[in-house]
Amino acid sequence: MCGIVGYVGHRDAGPVLLDGLRRLEYRGYDSAGVAILEGENLTIRREVGQVSNLAASMPERTTSHLGIAHTRWATHGGVTRANAHPHADTEHRVAVAHNGILDNHQVIRRNLEAEGVVFRSDTDTEVLPHLIRKFYQGDPVEALRRALSEVRGTYGVAVVFADHPDLILAARNGSPLVVGLGEGENFIASDSHALVRYTRRVIYLEDGELAVVKSDDVATLRLSGGRAAPHTVEELEPVYGVEGKGEFAHYMLKEIHEQPESIARCLRGRVLPEEGNARLGGFEMSPRDLLALSRVQLLGCGTSFHAGLVGALSIEGLARVPSSAEIASEFRSRNPVIASDGLYLAISQSGETADTLGAVKEVQVKGGRVMGVVNVVGSSIARSCGAGVYIHSGPEVAVASTKAFTSQVTALFIFTLMLARTRTLSPHDASRLARALMEAPEHVRAYLASPGPIQEAVRLLVAARYALFMGRGVSWPVAMEGALKLKEIAYIPCEAYPAGEMKHGPIAMLEKGTPVIAIVPQDEHHERTLSNIQEVKARGASIIGIFTRGDEEAERLSDVALPVPVVDPLLTPLVTVLPLQLLAYQAALALGRDIDRPRNLAKSVTVE
Ligand code: G6P
Repeated sequence: MCGIVGYVGHRDAGPVLLDGLRRLEYRGYDSAGVAILEGENLTIRREVGQVSNLAASMPERTTSHLGIAHTRWATHGGVTRANAHPHADTEHRVAVAHNGILDNHQVIRRNLEAEGVVFRSDTDTEVLPHLIRKFYQGDPVEALRRALSEVRGTYGVAVVFADHPDLILAARNGSPLVVGLGEGENFIASDSHALVRYTRRVIYLEDGELAVVKSDDVATLRLSGGRAAPHTVEELEPVYGVEGKGEFAHYMLKEIHEQPESIARCLRGRVLPEEGNARLGGFEMSPRDLLALSRVQLLGCGTSFHAGLVGALSIEGLARVPSSAEIASEFRSRNPVIASDGLYLAISQSGETADTLGAVKEVQVKGGRVMGVVNVVGSSIARSCGAGVYIHSGPEVAVASTKAFTSQVTALFIFTLMLARTRTLSPHDASRLARALMEAPEHVRAYLASPGPIQEAVRLLVAARYALFMGRGVSWPVAMEGALKLKEIAYIPCEAYPAGEMKHGPIAMLEKGTPVIAIVPQDEHHERTLSNIQEVKARGASIIGIFTRGDEEAERLSDVALPVPVVDPLLTPLVTVLPLQLLAYQAALALGRDIDRPRNLAKSVTVE
């Protein structure tokens, strides 16, 4: 969703800001803008559509060394140039870029209008520059503090003043902001991804803090007054692999093909086949703590929720600890009972999903123990949890999540192994599972090198009015993930059902030729899913079968057969999801969709 970049220093601010915005494009947005200080005036440029439109409207070089920029994902007010950020006060002396939502903007707006202010946009944000201007009497920090004391809601804001050519103010309440530290230059951004080209040294602002950013100095203050507690300077994670799309047409395809490496990175140093165990340092749980757990609940949204479902099934199935997964937005708003001897895992690629963060806070406020399973180092969820596991997928740019899913699932399998070792699993069985996990990257590589007749399946899907995904056990969340991918990027109507539910409704949807994607690997559900396949086939469905290589029965029942490598029955999601990712990608390609940036979606959903 919305993104913020700010720069103050010796470079030409325009190109730095545009570069930062391009790096935030993956988050999803509909318009973009910059405010730069040129001489004594703030110049604001905004355009609807892509950052390239904004870039085309700007000179290649500017004479500015200070500015802020924004990508907007519309919430209040339509997608128009007037609603794009940055917003300014009437005389263009203050410009503001804002992420988040100001809940009481209407009241403030009415009051300001009564005082004669004329608004030029429909946004909630525009109240901020007018308020700051109203309170400004030479002290920018004081003006921002007073303005923010009037608003309720969430914000990450960046503010520049025409009267202060070496100053950006940034403040945070619920929307992330990071300050990047350079030599004779400093940066701000809502996502450290925007900064990686310029610096690896960052500090993360906390809620209720304000940063005073100058070219040679950064100070952090409390919004309520006084200085903030000292911050440690953190190092950003190295960028893994090739930057950009490399040899691939889309980020999504690149990220699908990165999975052998990203899974291997997630496993590295954590799985110990010789000892028949695993170690997740960040979990800070001793075997005694693990043994004392009464339940494990996994929380997430979208693809991360699906990974949570796989995790819950493996934890309960193997470690015999009651476990369930829940959509974070539902969990946080239903006043859940928190088990004091339970463990809650917040799963999130970005670490910024508002509902997942809300769920973390709900657990914490009730005294529960919550840990993160997160990709982005230093993200809000990772820092709020304070403990957990980084999945180390590297940056995931395509909106549709792929490599993060397999790494989340891998991390949850590692946790399952650790937990099961304290209860149910013998050293011998644990070693076997550990070895199987270590072999997973090679199986993923082998499948991706030879993925089978994906195009044949795509032909069935793109001609369909409706498609159905089905599976049992861990293959049910995999089916859900396959359907989500197909909806997200190909916009093909489809749904996923546990195969055992077919006869309770979805079978009525089937007509001659309806594609049914059946996920039927060799596990304890195999036989029963095969009979469900027979049932749907008898109703005329065309079966796209995803099964373990060598399974002749499944192959015979499939109209399009997509065999996957033989792996341990617990680990099948790591291979069965691969053809589903490729199916969605190739179907979207065939339909001419905007694969990396599908309509209406955002990579990082930072509002409830
Ligand atoms: C958005 C993205 C999905 C992602 C979900 C959860 O909907 O488009 O790909 O699965 O958010 O995001 P998270 O960053 O918390 O994993």
